[in-house]
Amino acid sequence: MIPRSIAILDGGLTFLGISGLLVGLRAFREARRSRPRRKTPRERILIAGAGDAGDILLRELQWKFSTTHEVVGFVDDAPGKEDARLRGVPVLGRIDQIRDVARQHRIDQVLIAVPSAGGELIRRITASVTEAKLGVKVLPGIGQLIGRAALLPQLRPVSIDDLLRRKAVEQEAEQVSGFLRGKVIIVTGAAGSIGSQLCRQILCHEPARLVVVDWAETPLHDLLLEIRAGTNESVVVSEMGDVTDAVRMGQIFTKHSPDLVFHAAALKHVPMCEAHVREAIRVNVGGTRIVAEAALAAGAQRFVLISTDKAVNPSSVMGATKRVAEVLLQKMENRGGPTRFIAVRFGNVLGSNGSVLHLFRSQIARGGPITVTHPEMRRYFMAIPEAVGLVLHAAHLGNGGDLFELDMGQPVKIVDLAQDMIRLSGLVPGKDIRIEFSGVRPGEKLFEELYFSAEKVHPTSHPRIFCLRSERVPEKDGAVLLCLNHLNVFPRGTDPVLAGLRDDLLQMLDPAKREGSLA
Ligand SMILES: NC(=O)c1ccc[n+]([C@@H]2O[C@H](COP(=O)([O-])OP(=O)(O)OC[C@H]3O[C@@H](n4cnc5c(N)ncnc54)[C@H](O)[C@@H]3O)[C@@H](O)[C@H]2O)c1
Repeated sequence: MIPRSIAILDGGLTFLGISGLLVGLRAFREARRSRPRRKTPRERILIAGAGDAGDILLRELQWKFSTTHEVVGFVDDAPGKEDARLRGVPVLGRIDQIRDVARQHRIDQVLIAVPSAGGELIRRITASVTEAKLGVKVLPGIGQLIGRAALLPQLRPVSIDDLLRRKAVEQEAEQVSGFLRGKVIIVTGAAGSIGSQLCRQILCHEPARLVVVDWAETPLHDLLLEIRAGTNESVVVSEMGDVTDAVRMGQIFTKHSPDLVFHAAALKHVPMCEAHVREAIRVNVGGTRIVAEAALAAGAQRFVLISTDKAVNPSSVMGATKRVAEVLLQKMENRGGPTRFIAVRFGNVLGSNGSVLHLFRSQIARGGPITVTHPEMRRYFMAIPEAVGLVLHAAHLGNGGDLFELDMGQPVKIVDLAQDMIRLSGLVPGKDIRIEFSGVRPGEKLFEELYFSAEKVHPTSHPRIFCLRSERVPEKDGAVLLCLNHLNVFPRGTDPVLAGLRDDLLQMLDPAKREGSLA
Protein backbone atom coordinates (compact mmCIF):
# COMPACT_ATOMS: atom_id res chain seq x y z
CA MET A 1 0.00 0.00 0.00
CA ILE A 2 1.50 3.41 -1.11
CA PRO A 3 1.05 6.15 1.46
CA ARG A 4 -1.42 8.81 0.33
CA SER A 5 1.20 11.62 0.77
CA ILE A 6 3.49 9.94 -1.79
CA ALA A 7 0.65 9.65 -4.34
CA ILE A 8 -0.19 13.35 -3.90
CA LEU A 9 3.49 14.31 -4.18
CA ASP A 10 3.91 12.21 -7.35
CA GLY A 11 0.81 13.76 -9.00
CA GLY A 12 2.04 17.27 -8.13
CA LEU A 13 5.53 16.62 -9.49
CA THR A 14 4.15 15.13 -12.73
CA PHE A 15 1.86 18.20 -13.18
CA LEU A 16 4.74 20.57 -12.57
CA GLY A 17 7.00 18.64 -14.98
CA ILE A 18 4.49 18.67 -17.84
CA SER A 19 3.57 22.33 -17.29
CA GLY A 20 7.25 23.28 -17.23
CA LEU A 21 7.84 21.42 -20.46
CA LEU A 22 4.92 23.19 -22.16
CA VAL A 23 6.00 26.62 -20.87
CA GLY A 24 9.57 25.93 -22.02
CA LEU A 25 8.41 24.91 -25.49
CA ARG A 26 6.28 27.98 -25.82
CA ALA A 27 9.10 30.25 -24.65
CA PHE A 28 11.42 28.63 -27.20
CA ARG A 29 8.90 29.21 -30.02
CA GLU A 30 8.33 32.83 -28.98
CA ALA A 31 12.04 33.45 -28.82
CA ARG A 32 12.47 32.04 -32.34
CA ARG A 33 9.64 34.12 -33.70
CA SER A 34 10.91 37.36 -32.21
CA ARG A 35 14.54 36.78 -33.36
CA PRO A 36 15.31 39.26 -36.23
CA ARG A 37 15.07 37.44 -39.61
CA ARG A 38 17.88 37.61 -42.15
CA LYS A 39 16.87 40.32 -44.64
CA THR A 40 16.04 39.02 -48.17
CA PRO A 41 17.88 41.20 -50.65
CA ARG A 42 15.71 43.49 -52.76
CA GLU A 43 15.52 42.77 -56.50
CA ARG A 44 17.73 45.26 -58.32
CA ILE A 45 15.91 46.84 -61.26
CA LEU A 46 17.18 48.76 -64.29
CA ILE A 47 14.57 50.60 -66.36
CA ALA A 48 15.23 51.01 -70.10
CA GLY A 49 13.60 54.31 -71.05
CA ALA A 50 13.71 57.41 -68.85
CA GLY A 51 10.61 58.98 -70.40
CA ASP A 52 7.08 59.31 -69.03
CA ALA A 53 6.44 55.54 -68.87
CA GLY A 54 9.76 54.93 -67.08
CA ASP A 55 8.97 57.70 -64.61
CA ILE A 56 5.52 56.23 -63.84
CA LEU A 57 6.98 52.72 -63.40
CA LEU A 58 9.57 54.12 -60.99
CA ARG A 59 6.89 55.92 -59.00
CA GLU A 60 4.71 52.79 -58.80
CA LEU A 61 7.68 50.63 -57.73
CA GLN A 62 8.85 53.14 -55.09
CA TRP A 63 5.32 53.52 -53.77
CA LYS A 64 4.22 49.89 -53.56
CA PHE A 65 7.28 47.65 -53.74
CA SER A 66 10.09 49.54 -52.03
CA THR A 67 10.69 46.66 -49.60
CA THR A 68 11.15 44.07 -52.34
CA HIS A 69 12.44 46.05 -55.34
CA GLU A 70 15.05 48.72 -55.74
CA VAL A 71 15.24 50.77 -58.92
CA VAL A 72 18.97 51.25 -59.33
CA GLY A 73 18.90 53.38 -62.47
CA PHE A 74 17.81 54.00 -66.05
CA VAL A 75 19.36 53.61 -69.46
CA ASP A 76 18.24 55.97 -72.22
CA ASP A 77 19.58 57.20 -75.57
CA ALA A 78 17.92 60.61 -75.65
CA PRO A 79 20.41 63.49 -75.85
CA GLY A 80 20.47 65.55 -72.67
CA LYS A 81 19.48 62.61 -70.46
CA GLU A 82 23.06 61.37 -69.88
CA ASP A 83 23.40 62.70 -66.35
CA ALA A 84 19.72 63.19 -65.58
CA ARG A 85 18.00 61.92 -62.43
CA LEU A 86 14.36 60.98 -62.03
CA ARG A 87 13.12 61.09 -58.43
CA GLY A 88 16.76 60.81 -57.38
CA VAL A 89 17.43 57.74 -59.56
CA PRO A 90 20.25 58.31 -62.09
CA VAL A 91 20.45 57.59 -65.84
CA LEU A 92 23.44 55.24 -65.87
CA GLY A 93 24.14 55.02 -69.58
CA ARG A 94 22.85 54.48 -73.10
CA ILE A 95 20.79 51.55 -74.20
CA ASP A 96 23.68 49.88 -76.04
CA GLN A 97 25.65 49.97 -72.75
CA ILE A 98 22.94 47.99 -70.96
CA ARG A 99 25.08 44.88 -70.43
CA ASP A 100 27.99 46.74 -68.84
CA VAL A 101 25.64 48.86 -66.73
CA ALA A 102 23.80 45.73 -65.58
CA ARG A 103 27.05 43.97 -64.65
CA GLN A 104 28.52 46.98 -62.80
CA HIS A 105 25.36 47.56 -60.79
CA ARG A 106 24.48 43.87 -60.19
CA ILE A 107 21.08 44.20 -61.87
CA ASP A 108 18.61 41.31 -61.57
CA GLN A 109 15.86 42.46 -63.89
CA VAL A 110 15.45 44.95 -66.77
CA LEU A 111 12.08 46.60 -67.43
CA ILE A 112 11.56 48.02 -70.93
CA ALA A 113 9.43 51.15 -70.62
CA VAL A 114 9.34 52.57 -74.15
CA PRO A 115 5.77 51.98 -75.46
CA SER A 116 6.47 53.99 -78.63
CA ALA A 117 9.56 51.88 -79.47
CA GLY A 118 9.83 49.83 -82.63
CA GLY A 119 10.75 46.13 -82.47
CA GLU A 120 14.36 46.83 -83.41
CA LEU A 121 15.05 48.55 -80.08
CA ILE A 122 13.26 45.85 -78.08
CA ARG A 123 15.20 43.18 -79.97
CA ARG A 124 18.53 44.91 -79.11
CA ILE A 125 17.67 45.22 -75.44
CA THR A 126 16.29 41.68 -75.14
CA ALA A 127 19.30 40.17 -76.92
CA SER A 128 21.87 41.77 -74.57
CA VAL A 129 19.78 41.19 -71.46
CA THR A 130 19.03 37.51 -72.11
CA GLU A 131 22.68 36.90 -73.03
CA ALA A 132 23.60 38.25 -69.59
CA LYS A 133 20.95 35.84 -68.17
CA LEU A 134 18.92 38.64 -66.57
CA GLY A 135 15.15 38.80 -66.30
CA VAL A 136 13.38 41.14 -68.72
CA LYS A 137 9.82 42.44 -68.97
CA VAL A 138 8.25 44.93 -71.34
CA LEU A 139 5.34 47.34 -71.40
CA PRO A 140 2.92 46.82 -74.32
CA GLY A 141 3.05 49.18 -77.30
CA ILE A 142 1.06 52.41 -77.23
CA GLY A 143 -1.95 50.92 -79.04
CA GLN A 144 -2.25 48.13 -76.47
CA LEU A 145 -1.58 50.03 -73.24
CA ILE A 146 -4.69 50.20 -71.12
CA GLY A 147 -5.61 53.89 -70.77
CA ARG A 148 -5.12 55.26 -67.30
CA ALA A 149 -4.53 51.90 -65.61
CA ALA A 150 -1.37 51.38 -63.54
CA LEU A 151 1.64 50.34 -65.59
CA LEU A 152 3.16 47.72 -63.29
CA PRO A 153 0.42 45.11 -63.88
CA GLN A 154 0.80 45.66 -67.61
CA LEU A 155 4.44 44.53 -67.65
CA ARG A 156 4.77 41.15 -69.39
CA PRO A 157 7.45 38.83 -70.76
CA VAL A 158 8.82 39.87 -74.16
CA SER A 159 7.00 38.10 -77.02
CA ILE A 160 7.77 37.79 -80.70
CA ASP A 161 5.13 40.47 -81.42
CA ASP A 162 7.22 42.92 -79.38
CA LEU A 163 10.29 42.19 -81.49
CA LEU A 164 8.34 42.94 -84.66
CA ARG A 165 6.51 45.92 -83.19
CA ARG A 166 6.61 49.12 -85.20
CA LYS A 167 6.99 52.69 -84.06
CA ALA A 168 3.59 53.99 -83.06
CA VAL A 169 1.60 56.26 -85.34
CA GLU A 170 -1.46 58.13 -84.11
CA GLN A 171 -4.57 56.50 -85.61
CA GLU A 172 -7.37 58.88 -86.38
CA ALA A 173 -9.93 56.75 -84.55
CA GLU A 174 -12.57 59.46 -84.70
CA GLN A 175 -12.77 59.39 -88.50
CA VAL A 176 -13.11 55.61 -88.55
CA SER A 177 -15.75 55.76 -85.81
CA GLY A 178 -17.78 58.30 -87.75
CA PHE A 179 -17.55 56.08 -90.80
CA LEU A 180 -18.70 52.85 -89.08
CA ARG A 181 -21.14 54.17 -86.47
CA GLY A 182 -24.78 53.28 -87.15
CA LYS A 183 -23.97 51.17 -90.25
CA VAL A 184 -25.09 47.66 -91.15
CA ILE A 185 -21.87 45.77 -91.82
CA ILE A 186 -21.30 42.29 -93.22
CA VAL A 187 -18.00 40.50 -92.61
CA THR A 188 -17.40 37.29 -94.59
CA GLY A 189 -14.83 34.81 -93.30
CA ALA A 190 -15.76 36.35 -89.95
CA ALA A 191 -14.52 33.34 -87.98
CA GLY A 192 -10.99 33.56 -89.42
CA SER A 193 -7.96 35.45 -88.13
CA ILE A 194 -8.58 38.64 -90.10
CA GLY A 195 -12.38 38.40 -90.10
CA SER A 196 -12.68 37.93 -86.34
CA GLN A 197 -10.39 40.89 -85.65
CA LEU A 198 -12.45 42.99 -88.06
CA CYS A 199 -15.54 42.05 -86.02
CA ARG A 200 -13.88 42.94 -82.70
CA GLN A 201 -12.75 46.34 -83.93
CA ILE A 202 -15.99 47.15 -85.79
CA LEU A 203 -17.99 46.48 -82.61
CA CYS A 204 -15.95 49.16 -80.81
CA HIS A 205 -17.38 51.73 -83.23
CA GLU A 206 -21.09 51.12 -82.52
CA PRO A 207 -22.44 49.71 -85.79
CA ALA A 208 -26.23 49.38 -86.11
CA ARG A 209 -25.75 45.68 -86.93
CA LEU A 210 -22.80 43.37 -87.54
CA VAL A 211 -23.62 40.33 -89.69
CA VAL A 212 -20.99 37.61 -89.41
CA VAL A 213 -20.81 35.16 -92.33
CA ASP A 214 -18.72 31.99 -92.42
CA TRP A 215 -19.18 28.37 -93.41
CA ALA A 216 -17.21 26.92 -90.49
CA GLU A 217 -19.70 26.08 -87.74
CA THR A 218 -17.50 25.70 -84.66
CA PRO A 219 -15.23 28.71 -85.26
CA LEU A 220 -18.34 30.81 -85.98
CA HIS A 221 -19.93 29.60 -82.75
CA ASP A 222 -16.75 30.40 -80.79
CA LEU A 223 -16.65 33.87 -82.34
CA LEU A 224 -20.25 34.56 -81.37
CA LEU A 225 -19.63 33.49 -77.78
CA GLU A 226 -16.69 35.87 -77.65
CA ILE A 227 -18.06 38.97 -79.36
CA ARG A 228 -21.61 38.81 -78.03
CA ALA A 229 -20.34 38.93 -74.46
CA GLY A 230 -20.39 42.48 -73.24
CA THR A 231 -22.33 43.87 -76.19
CA ASN A 232 -26.01 44.29 -77.01
CA GLU A 233 -26.70 40.77 -78.36
CA SER A 234 -29.07 41.92 -81.08
CA VAL A 235 -26.27 43.93 -82.74
CA VAL A 236 -24.47 40.74 -83.81
CA VAL A 237 -26.30 38.46 -86.24
CA SER A 238 -24.78 35.23 -87.51
CA GLU A 239 -25.46 33.85 -90.97
CA MET A 240 -23.80 30.55 -91.73
CA GLY A 241 -23.14 30.19 -95.42
CA ASP A 242 -20.74 29.39 -98.23
CA VAL A 243 -19.60 32.43 -100.21
CA THR A 244 -19.71 30.38 -103.42
CA ASP A 245 -23.44 29.75 -102.92
CA ALA A 246 -25.02 32.62 -104.88
CA VAL A 247 -28.55 31.83 -103.68
CA ARG A 248 -27.55 31.87 -100.00
CA MET A 249 -25.49 35.06 -100.39
CA GLY A 250 -28.44 36.69 -102.21
CA GLN A 251 -30.72 35.79 -99.26
CA ILE A 252 -28.32 37.18 -96.67
CA PHE A 253 -27.66 40.41 -98.54
CA THR A 254 -31.34 41.03 -99.35
CA LYS A 255 -32.31 40.36 -95.74
CA HIS A 256 -29.75 42.73 -94.20
CA SER A 257 -29.20 45.42 -96.91
CA PRO A 258 -25.64 46.13 -95.72
CA ASP A 259 -24.01 49.54 -96.00
CA LEU A 260 -20.50 48.06 -95.85
CA VAL A 261 -19.06 44.65 -96.73
CA PHE A 262 -15.65 43.32 -95.68
CA HIS A 263 -14.82 40.20 -97.66
CA ALA A 264 -12.25 38.13 -95.77
CA ALA A 265 -13.50 34.62 -96.63
CA ALA A 266 -10.79 32.84 -98.59
CA LEU A 267 -8.53 29.84 -98.83
CA LYS A 268 -5.11 31.16 -97.86
CA HIS A 269 -2.59 28.36 -97.45
CA VAL A 270 -0.20 28.29 -100.42
CA PRO A 271 0.44 24.51 -100.39
CA MET A 272 -3.27 23.71 -99.86
CA CYS A 273 -4.26 25.89 -102.81
CA GLU A 274 -1.57 24.21 -104.97
CA ALA A 275 -3.06 20.85 -104.04
CA HIS A 276 -6.70 21.97 -104.46
CA VAL A 277 -6.60 24.34 -107.41
CA ARG A 278 -10.25 24.00 -108.26
CA GLU A 279 -11.36 24.86 -104.73
CA ALA A 280 -8.94 27.79 -104.55
CA ILE A 281 -10.37 29.29 -107.75
CA ARG A 282 -13.98 28.57 -106.71
CA VAL A 283 -13.64 30.24 -103.30
CA ASN A 284 -11.11 33.03 -103.89
CA VAL A 285 -12.30 34.15 -107.32
CA GLY A 286 -15.82 32.71 -107.61
CA GLY A 287 -16.71 33.55 -104.00
CA THR A 288 -15.44 37.13 -104.37
CA ARG A 289 -17.47 37.58 -107.56
CA ILE A 290 -20.64 36.24 -105.92
CA VAL A 291 -20.31 38.34 -102.76
CA ALA A 292 -19.44 41.45 -104.78
CA GLU A 293 -22.49 40.94 -107.03
CA ALA A 294 -24.70 40.43 -103.95
CA ALA A 295 -23.32 43.66 -102.40
CA LEU A 296 -24.01 45.58 -105.60
CA ALA A 297 -27.54 44.15 -105.92
CA ALA A 298 -28.24 45.08 -102.27
CA GLY A 299 -27.02 48.66 -102.89
CA ALA A 300 -24.10 48.49 -100.42
CA GLN A 301 -21.99 51.65 -100.26
CA ARG A 302 -18.64 49.91 -100.05
CA PHE A 303 -17.16 46.48 -100.64
CA VAL A 304 -13.68 45.89 -99.26
CA LEU A 305 -11.65 42.89 -100.39
CA ILE A 306 -8.90 41.67 -98.06
CA SER A 307 -6.03 40.93 -100.42
CA THR A 308 -2.46 39.84 -99.91
CA ASP A 309 1.07 40.66 -101.10
CA LYS A 310 1.09 37.16 -102.60
CA ALA A 311 -1.14 38.63 -105.33
CA VAL A 312 1.86 40.57 -106.68
CA ASN A 313 3.60 38.74 -109.54
CA PRO A 314 2.01 35.59 -108.17
CA SER A 315 4.04 32.41 -108.20
CA SER A 316 1.31 30.37 -106.54
CA VAL A 317 -2.28 29.43 -107.25
CA MET A 318 -3.28 31.20 -104.04
CA GLY A 319 -1.56 34.45 -105.10
CA ALA A 320 -2.98 34.20 -108.63
CA THR A 321 -6.54 33.76 -107.35
CA LYS A 322 -6.22 36.80 -105.09
CA ARG A 323 -4.81 38.87 -107.98
CA VAL A 324 -7.71 37.83 -110.19
CA ALA A 325 -10.10 38.84 -107.40
CA GLU A 326 -8.46 42.31 -107.37
CA VAL A 327 -8.83 42.68 -111.15
CA LEU A 328 -12.42 41.48 -110.93
CA LEU A 329 -13.25 44.22 -108.45
CA GLN A 330 -11.77 46.90 -110.70
CA LYS A 331 -14.02 45.60 -113.48
CA MET A 332 -17.02 45.71 -111.16
CA GLU A 333 -16.15 49.30 -110.25
CA ASN A 334 -16.05 50.26 -113.94
CA ARG A 335 -19.59 48.94 -114.33
CA GLY A 336 -20.88 51.83 -112.20
CA GLY A 337 -23.65 51.49 -109.59
CA PRO A 338 -24.05 52.41 -105.95
CA THR A 339 -21.17 50.30 -104.61
CA ARG A 340 -17.54 51.43 -104.40
CA PHE A 341 -15.14 48.49 -104.70
CA ILE A 342 -11.87 48.67 -102.77
CA ALA A 343 -9.07 46.15 -102.18
CA VAL A 344 -6.49 46.31 -99.40
CA ARG A 345 -3.24 44.37 -99.77
CA PHE A 346 -0.87 43.47 -96.97
CA GLY A 347 1.72 40.87 -96.00
CA ASN A 348 1.65 38.23 -93.28
CA VAL A 349 0.03 39.00 -89.98
CA LEU A 350 1.56 37.63 -86.82
CA GLY A 351 0.01 34.59 -85.24
CA SER A 352 -2.87 34.09 -87.70
CA ASN A 353 -4.44 30.60 -87.98
CA GLY A 354 -1.84 28.10 -89.12
CA SER A 355 0.94 30.70 -89.29
CA VAL A 356 4.64 30.02 -88.97
CA LEU A 357 4.62 31.22 -85.33
CA HIS A 358 2.20 28.43 -84.33
CA LEU A 359 4.39 25.90 -86.11
CA PHE A 360 7.61 27.15 -84.46
CA ARG A 361 5.96 27.24 -81.04
CA SER A 362 4.91 23.60 -81.27
CA GLN A 363 8.30 22.57 -82.69
CA ILE A 364 10.06 24.28 -79.75
CA ALA A 365 7.65 22.60 -77.30
CA ARG A 366 8.58 19.22 -78.80
CA GLY A 367 12.28 20.00 -78.33
CA GLY A 368 12.94 20.87 -81.99
CA PRO A 369 14.14 20.89 -84.64
CA ILE A 370 12.56 24.00 -86.14
CA THR A 371 12.10 23.69 -89.89
CA VAL A 372 12.70 26.74 -92.08
CA THR A 373 12.38 26.37 -95.85
CA HIS A 374 15.41 28.45 -96.87
CA PRO A 375 18.07 30.56 -95.06
CA GLU A 376 17.20 33.60 -97.22
CA MET A 377 13.39 33.29 -96.95
CA ARG A 378 11.99 36.69 -95.85
CA ARG A 379 8.51 37.94 -95.13
CA TYR A 380 6.78 41.15 -94.08
CA PHE A 381 4.96 40.85 -90.78
CA MET A 382 2.40 42.98 -89.00
CA ALA A 383 0.31 42.48 -85.86
CA ILE A 384 -3.30 41.53 -86.68
CA PRO A 385 -4.88 44.43 -84.72
CA GLU A 386 -2.63 46.93 -86.48
CA ALA A 387 -3.35 45.51 -89.96
CA VAL A 388 -7.09 45.43 -89.32
CA GLY A 389 -7.09 48.97 -87.87
CA LEU A 390 -5.45 50.14 -91.10
CA VAL A 391 -7.93 48.16 -93.25
CA LEU A 392 -10.81 49.99 -91.54
CA HIS A 393 -9.05 53.26 -92.17
CA ALA A 394 -8.41 52.39 -95.84
CA ALA A 395 -12.08 51.44 -96.24
CA HIS A 396 -12.95 54.93 -95.07
CA LEU A 397 -10.40 56.55 -97.46
CA GLY A 398 -11.37 54.51 -100.54
CA ASN A 399 -13.13 56.20 -103.41
CA GLY A 400 -13.89 53.18 -105.52
CA GLY A 401 -11.59 51.13 -107.71
CA ASP A 402 -8.82 51.89 -105.20
CA LEU A 403 -6.18 49.34 -104.42
CA PHE A 404 -4.47 50.10 -101.12
CA GLU A 405 -1.23 48.74 -99.77
CA LEU A 406 -0.39 48.83 -96.08
CA ASP A 407 3.11 49.86 -95.06
CA MET A 408 4.57 46.63 -93.73
CA GLY A 409 7.90 48.00 -92.44
CA GLN A 410 11.01 45.94 -93.12
CA PRO A 411 10.92 42.29 -94.20
CA VAL A 412 12.16 39.80 -91.60
CA LYS A 413 14.27 36.71 -92.31
CA ILE A 414 12.29 33.66 -91.20
CA VAL A 415 15.45 32.10 -89.79
CA ASP A 416 15.95 35.19 -87.55
CA LEU A 417 12.35 34.85 -86.39
CA ALA A 418 13.02 31.20 -85.51
CA GLN A 419 16.14 32.15 -83.54
CA ASP A 420 14.27 34.91 -81.69
CA MET A 421 11.54 32.49 -80.72
CA ILE A 422 14.07 29.98 -79.40
CA ARG A 423 15.81 32.70 -77.34
CA LEU A 424 12.51 34.01 -75.98
CA SER A 425 11.80 30.48 -74.75
CA GLY A 426 15.01 30.73 -72.70
CA LEU A 427 16.88 28.30 -74.98
CA VAL A 428 19.95 28.60 -77.18
CA PRO A 429 19.52 28.31 -80.98
CA GLY A 430 21.68 25.58 -82.48
CA LYS A 431 22.45 24.13 -79.04
CA ASP A 432 19.11 23.41 -77.33
CA ILE A 433 17.01 23.59 -80.51
CA ARG A 434 18.37 22.92 -84.00
CA ILE A 435 17.14 24.76 -87.12
CA GLU A 436 16.80 22.62 -90.26
CA PHE A 437 16.29 23.87 -93.82
CA SER A 438 13.64 21.89 -95.64
CA GLY A 439 13.67 23.50 -99.11
CA VAL A 440 11.30 25.98 -100.78
CA ARG A 441 7.82 24.52 -101.36
CA PRO A 442 5.89 24.65 -104.66
CA GLY A 443 4.45 28.13 -105.25
CA GLU A 444 6.59 29.75 -102.54
CA LYS A 445 8.79 32.80 -103.18
CA LEU A 446 11.93 33.74 -101.25
CA PHE A 447 10.77 37.39 -101.01
CA GLU A 448 7.29 38.83 -101.30
CA GLU A 449 6.94 41.96 -103.41
CA LEU A 450 4.51 44.64 -102.34
CA TYR A 451 3.43 45.94 -105.74
CA PHE A 452 3.83 45.31 -109.48
CA SER A 453 6.49 47.38 -111.25
CA ALA A 454 3.70 48.97 -113.34
CA GLU A 455 1.95 50.17 -110.19
CA LYS A 456 2.68 53.70 -108.97
CA VAL A 457 2.66 54.16 -105.22
CA HIS A 458 0.83 57.29 -104.02
CA PRO A 459 0.68 58.53 -100.44
CA THR A 460 -2.69 58.97 -98.73
CA SER A 461 -3.65 61.09 -95.73
CA HIS A 462 -2.53 58.16 -93.54
CA PRO A 463 1.26 57.63 -93.35
CA ARG A 464 0.92 53.82 -93.31
CA ILE A 465 -1.57 53.46 -96.17
CA PHE A 466 -0.54 53.81 -99.82
CA CYS A 467 -2.72 53.88 -102.88
CA LEU A 468 -1.53 51.91 -105.92
CA ARG A 469 -2.44 53.16 -109.38
CA SER A 470 -1.63 51.35 -112.56
CA GLU A 471 -2.17 51.68 -116.26
CA ARG A 472 -1.72 47.95 -116.42
CA VAL A 473 -3.88 46.06 -118.90
CA PRO A 474 -5.39 42.88 -117.55
CA GLU A 475 -4.58 40.86 -120.67
CA LYS A 476 -0.94 41.15 -119.64
CA ASP A 477 -1.86 39.79 -116.24
CA GLY A 478 -0.37 36.34 -115.93
CA ALA A 479 -2.60 35.56 -112.97
CA VAL A 480 -5.74 35.73 -115.12
CA LEU A 481 -4.16 33.47 -117.69
CA LEU A 482 -2.99 31.03 -115.03
CA CYS A 483 -6.48 30.72 -113.54
CA LEU A 484 -8.05 30.44 -116.98
CA ASN A 485 -5.65 27.66 -117.97
CA HIS A 486 -6.60 25.77 -114.84
CA LEU A 487 -10.30 26.38 -115.45
CA ASN A 488 -9.97 24.97 -118.96
CA VAL A 489 -8.69 21.72 -117.51
CA PHE A 490 -11.79 21.18 -115.34
CA PRO A 491 -14.76 19.48 -117.04
CA ARG A 492 -17.06 22.11 -118.54
CA GLY A 493 -20.60 22.87 -117.50
CA THR A 494 -20.59 20.93 -114.24
CA ASP A 495 -20.26 23.84 -111.83
CA PRO A 496 -22.17 27.12 -112.22
CA VAL A 497 -19.56 29.05 -110.20
CA LEU A 498 -16.72 27.96 -112.49
CA ALA A 499 -18.76 28.28 -115.69
CA GLY A 500 -19.57 31.94 -114.95
CA LEU A 501 -15.96 32.59 -114.05
CA ARG A 502 -14.56 31.27 -117.28
CA ASP A 503 -16.57 33.91 -119.16
CA ASP A 504 -15.37 36.65 -116.80
CA LEU A 505 -11.74 35.70 -117.20
CA LEU A 506 -11.95 35.45 -120.97
CA GLN A 507 -13.53 38.85 -120.99
CA MET A 508 -10.74 40.25 -118.79
CA LEU A 509 -8.15 38.98 -121.25
CA ASP A 510 -9.89 40.21 -124.37
CA PRO A 511 -12.62 42.72 -123.57
CA ALA A 512 -13.39 43.34 -127.25
CA LYS A 513 -14.38 39.76 -127.96
CA ARG A 514 -16.76 39.10 -125.09
CA GLU A 515 -19.87 41.14 -124.63
CA GLY A 516 -22.29 41.16 -121.72
CA SER A 517 -20.01 39.83 -119.00
CA LEU A 518 -18.29 42.02 -116.45
CA ALA A 519 -17.46 45.06 -118.62
N1 LIG B 1 -3.19 35.66 -92.41
C1 LIG B 1 -2.37 36.49 -93.02
O1 LIG B 1 -1.19 36.58 -92.70
C2 LIG B 1 -2.90 37.37 -94.13
C3 LIG B 1 -2.14 38.46 -94.57
C4 LIG B 1 -2.62 39.24 -95.62
C5 LIG B 1 -3.83 38.92 -96.21
N2 LIG B 1 -4.53 37.85 -95.76
C6 LIG B 1 -5.76 37.51 -96.47
O2 LIG B 1 -6.86 37.61 -95.60
C7 LIG B 1 -7.83 36.63 -95.96
C8 LIG B 1 -8.23 35.86 -94.71
O3 LIG B 1 -7.08 35.27 -94.14
P1 LIG B 1 -7.11 34.68 -92.67
O4 LIG B 1 -5.70 34.62 -92.22
O5 LIG B 1 -8.11 35.36 -91.85
O6 LIG B 1 -7.58 33.19 -93.00
P2 LIG B 1 -8.40 32.21 -92.07
O7 LIG B 1 -8.26 30.86 -92.67
O8 LIG B 1 -8.06 32.40 -90.65
O9 LIG B 1 -9.90 32.73 -92.28
C9 LIG B 1 -10.63 32.54 -93.45
C10 LIG B 1 -12.08 32.33 -93.05
O10 LIG B 1 -12.85 32.21 -94.24
C11 LIG B 1 -13.76 31.16 -94.07
N3 LIG B 1 -14.09 30.63 -95.39
C12 LIG B 1 -13.27 30.04 -96.29
N4 LIG B 1 -13.96 29.67 -97.36
C13 LIG B 1 -15.24 30.01 -97.16
C14 LIG B 1 -16.43 29.86 -97.91
N5 LIG B 1 -16.43 29.27 -99.11
N6 LIG B 1 -17.56 30.35 -97.41
C15 LIG B 1 -17.59 30.95 -96.20
N7 LIG B 1 -16.51 31.09 -95.43
C16 LIG B 1 -15.34 30.63 -95.91
C17 LIG B 1 -13.03 30.14 -93.22
O11 LIG B 1 -13.95 29.27 -92.57
C18 LIG B 1 -12.27 31.03 -92.27
O12 LIG B 1 -13.01 31.27 -91.11
C19 LIG B 1 -7.19 35.77 -97.04
O13 LIG B 1 -7.62 36.20 -98.30
C20 LIG B 1 -5.73 36.07 -96.91
O14 LIG B 1 -5.05 35.96 -98.15
C21 LIG B 1 -4.12 37.08 -94.73
